[in-house]
Amino acid sequence: MGFAPSSRLRRLPPYLFAEFERKRAALEKRGRDVVNLGIGDPDTNPPALLLDTLVRHLNDPFLHQYSPSQGTEEFRSAVASFFKRRYGVALAPNEICLGVGSKELIAHMPLALTDPGDVVLVPEPGYPPYRSGTIFALCEPFVMPLRAERGFLPDLDAIPADVARRAKILYVNYPNNPTGAVASREFYAACAEFARKYGMLVVSDEAYAELYYGDPPPSFLETPGAKEVGVAVHSMTKTFSMAGWRVAWVCGNARVVEIVRGFKANCDSGQFMGFQKAVAAVLEKGTGDMKAIRDMYRARRDAFVTGLRALGWEIPSPKAGLYVWFPVPKRGMASMEFSTKVLEEAGVILLPGSGFGAFAEGFVRAALTVPEGRIREAVERIGSIRW
Ligand SMILES: Cc1ncc(COP(=O)(O)O)c(C=O)c1O
Repeated sequence: MGFAPSSRLRRLPPYLFAEFERKRAALEKRGRDVVNLGIGDPDTNPPALLLDTLVRHLNDPFLHQYSPSQGTEEFRSAVASFFKRRYGVALAPNEICLGVGSKELIAHMPLALTDPGDVVLVPEPGYPPYRSGTIFALCEPFVMPLRAERGFLPDLDAIPADVARRAKILYVNYPNNPTGAVASREFYAACAEFARKYGMLVVSDEAYAELYYGDPPPSFLETPGAKEVGVAVHSMTKTFSMAGWRVAWVCGNARVVEIVRGFKANCDSGQFMGFQKAVAAVLEKGTGDMKAIRDMYRARRDAFVTGLRALGWEIPSPKAGLYVWFPVPKRGMASMEFSTKVLEEAGVILLPGSGFGAFAEGFVRAALTVPEGRIREAVERIGSIRW
């Protein structure tokens, strides 16, 4: 039988890091030590309170049954108290729905809330599921470039009115992957107004909300009237080093939350209730851990930024997030050429901007997900390259 990927899958853009990954695998096969600043996969243990709570309840037979698809009451109540404490935003239980990680929530949003032929507004550079979820739903992605000169915020005024009228979802992501930019309250207010004007939903991906190095960034849901036009997506992954646990939530507009819950009830059955219990404990009490995690990433960020600045390179220091996004330091060199040279000569993985879309060419991304000592080593090795 000649099986083939669906036409939806065939419409996805090519995976541009494939050749780069092949080179990395070849180096590692030859026994080369590679410092991986590529993927944003947190490398430390989750907080002790989380692990202890999980272990303490593992023998509770009830926890091993199916979860309510919206998440347990205990989990949603902990999310509500966290949101109130952190943002001053009150959430009712029906305004929160559990996600099996935030990736699936983000990718499923167009399938649950659009019709074929609708437009979805996606930032570039941006997290790939904004675009792939849009393509799976047979919608048209409309690219909003994120440019350094605009603080990596999309220019909503540049979106043609006929496109905006057909748009059903506006994805925004702050603190931003990959640029590290943070959104202001004014920007979020402009998003809410734009969404109201054209009748679309704002999906604010706030996966990096707790990883900040200055003032705490706002949530879109703090904007007056935000719940009428939008939802925020939050994840435990980055903040608490829990990528494998797959615990996240979407919150905000009750009708949208209900639609997403109804959609998900058809394709997943929630998440292990032991994980939800442990997460609830940390959301109720875990602010001390968040500070320690932020301090760790701040030290890594500073080691990377100061180290490369000592080479005379222009390296912006991100205000938030897990990444340093910097212009290719060698004039006229493409990001892929730069990253390949750094990989082959220094054994350090930095992702080339070109893999994040055409508007990201000219930049490089470093993830701060290795210990500080390894970051210093990476910087030293990069410093010894002859250009
Ligand atoms: C911007 C952004 N949103 C969401 C996620 C997804 O995180 P998870 O599915 O682990 O919740 C990521 C992961 O890299 C991300 O970079």
